[in-house]
Amino acid sequence: MKNRQARLAARPSGTPKRTDWSFTEEDVAQPREGEFLVKVSHISLDPAMRGWMAEGRSYIPPVQIGEVMRAGTVGEVIASRGERFAPGDHVTSWLGVQEYAVCPESAAFPVDPSVAPLTTYLGALGMPGMTAYFGLLDVGEPKEGETVVVSGAAGAVGSVVGQIARIKGCRAIGIAGGPEKCGWVAGELGFDACIDYKSADVAAALREQCPEGIDVYFDNVGGEILDAALARLARGGRVVICGAISQYNNLESMRGPSNYMSLLVNRARMQGFVVLDYMARYPQAQSEMAGWIGEGRLIAREDVAVGFDSFPEALARLFAGENVGKLVLKVAG
Ligand SMILES: NC(=O)c1ccc[n+]([C@@H]2O[C@H](COP(=O)([O-])OP(=O)(O)OC[C@H]3O[C@@H](n4cnc5c(N)ncnc54)[C@H](OP(=O)(O)O)[C@@H]3O)[C@@H](O)[C@H]2O)c1
Repeated sequence: MKNRQARLAARPSGTPKRTDWSFTEEDVAQPREGEFLVKVSHISLDPAMRGWMAEGRSYIPPVQIGEVMRAGTVGEVIASRGERFAPGDHVTSWLGVQEYAVCPESAAFPVDPSVAPLTTYLGALGMPGMTAYFGLLDVGEPKEGETVVVSGAAGAVGSVVGQIARIKGCRAIGIAGGPEKCGWVAGELGFDACIDYKSADVAAALREQCPEGIDVYFDNVGGEILDAALARLARGGRVVICGAISQYNNLESMRGPSNYMSLLVNRARMQGFVVLDYMARYPQAQSEMAGWIGEGRLIAREDVAVGFDSFPEALARLFAGENVGKLVLKVAG
């Protein structure tokens, strides 16, 4: 059996493109004692991949030139030389952009396709869902009746943030690009409103939607939208720095917030976080969120691109704003 892989070939300038990867093919490796072999079914496509392609200090080392591109995966165990997993089991792990991978038993989590589709374990029940849960509840500390604003509201993290805010008794205001996304967020997802930043004056819309100010601003995009939210903070507001996708393709000269004195005036705080720090608590969050999905209180949506070879173009969809919900790549035909 042959294994196809996408390896980092060059550090991108601007949006990653096909020539930033090389596609290689080699024999499928066989598991040793304590390992198992996975046939990857879906690969997670995340904005963070852009950061991992860049050189420099971050919360995790960069992918080196020539290495298989780092990515979260779900797949089926097809051979095992350990006790924890048997052929036919499904697992999630960080196996990278490849079709097959050998995995140590300690580096994978079991997933149950009878609870939710496999793809949901890369979305609402996976890393983005954990990001929404811990970023909002632990860092944002929303209280019932407060107003929570989230950017990237139609994406993997943002769509879950607003729904959890509603579950906790808050008003949820989304910010997303385009009428289709905003219609989905304020309609099916049940947010109180969604601002289309591509057509609206975001500062004016925030004044209208948040007359008492913003208690929690969950930022996925940075740039001008972060500034507009800072200007509208309520006294004691919390700004959760989750990501800054509007700046990821311009890492050399990032735009920082200019309205930061609003933190002083409003006795507010702004705090970043990395979801990996909460790993020990994932099982508790996952079981609570699986319960919400089962009760129909949390809608999980995945946007599935198909075909291993289309990996570079599928990833670029994130930066063009073409995904609705969690973007994943389906490997197998
Ligand atoms: N801190 C952590 O531990 C952690 C963990 C996971 C993810 N994150 C961060 O969370 C954020 C969301 O990730 P995700 O996986 O949920 O991605 P996503 O929201 O599913 O997809 C990316 C979305 O970002 C929006 N976007 C792209 N370029 C933009 C721009 N220039 N200005 C404004 N919006 C833009 C697009 O939506 P529109 O069409 O609405 O613009 C696009 O659909 C990212 O910043 C990511 O790095 C952080």
